[in-house]
Amino acid sequence: MRLRSVELEMPDRAAAAAFLQNPWGLLDAGTRGNTTWLRATADQAYAIAVTEAPAKAVSSITFEGRKAEVEAVFARVQKSKLKHGQWIAAFDEPGRGAGFCVSGPEGEPYRFVVEQDKTAALPADRARPLHLSHVALNSGDREAATRMMVDVFGFRLSDRTRIMNFVRCDNTHHCIAYADNDNFSLNHIAFEMVDTDAVMRGMGRLKDAACPTAWGPGRHGPGNNVFSYFVAPFGACIEYTSEVQRVTDDYKVGAPEDWKWPPGRGDHWGIAARDNEKLIASSKAFPYRPPAA
Ligand SMILES: [Fe+2]
Repeated sequence: MRLRSVELEMPDRAAAAAFLQNPWGLLDAGTRGNTTWLRATADQAYAIAVTEAPAKAVSSITFEGRKAEVEAVFARVQKSKLKHGQWIAAFDEPGRGAGFCVSGPEGEPYRFVVEQDKTAALPADRARPLHLSHVALNSGDREAATRMMVDVFGFRLSDRTRIMNFVRCDNTHHCIAYADNDNFSLNHIAFEMVDTDAVMRGMGRLKDAACPTAWGPGRHGPGNNVFSYFVAPFGACIEYTSEVQRVTDDYKVGAPEDWKWPPGRGDHWGIAARDNEKLIASSKAFPYRPPAA
């Protein structure tokens, strides 16, 4: 199983799609009706979809897996108390395929897909994201969300800090993170870059496009990844990341006491400037729109 894409709704799709291509670095994967799909260089049909809609929302966070994996999750979802849709035989989007939608305890809209059409990877490029790396969500009860991920989806908890839980679906340290908050919505979306040089070059490219870094550069504790956060013109917080830790099944789940920083520090490097006001506003911009059952 791996994280595939995030699907957003917003009033100005065309401007968002243009920004996600240049300066962000994604590639056009097609437009049909009200939706534009954008891909990264990895072998996945797309990484983000933007749909024209009157209000901003997250309509789904999509995982992609083999048929047996996705069917096994669907069987557990059907036995759970989670709100979910029926099995969908053919998604009408790049990659097509079958799967289902399910909502988490706070209405987080997840989707599981078995892609039908294989997508060839493109050559890795420092100016373009490799793939969607993780999605972070604001949560009122991150333990309930984590229990669902582990017990129903079959994912693994990687780390717990004082304010966040990090969950993985493959050998990448986290694909989903839940952050304590007073609202249930999208916290940020991260794209993995080729290397740290690519993150730094990205910071320059975004600065030139009048979208300066809102937090970074730095290196996180859990996941040990390099980060730089931006607030996109369409209002979401988006991140370039690199060197995300890959883990094995025996990875010891970290506890809050494992991730303490000296006063004034929030990451390993200690050089990151942070525009808190801007980040907080962006982390409330995209509430969940649960999928139709
Ligand atoms: Fe992140």
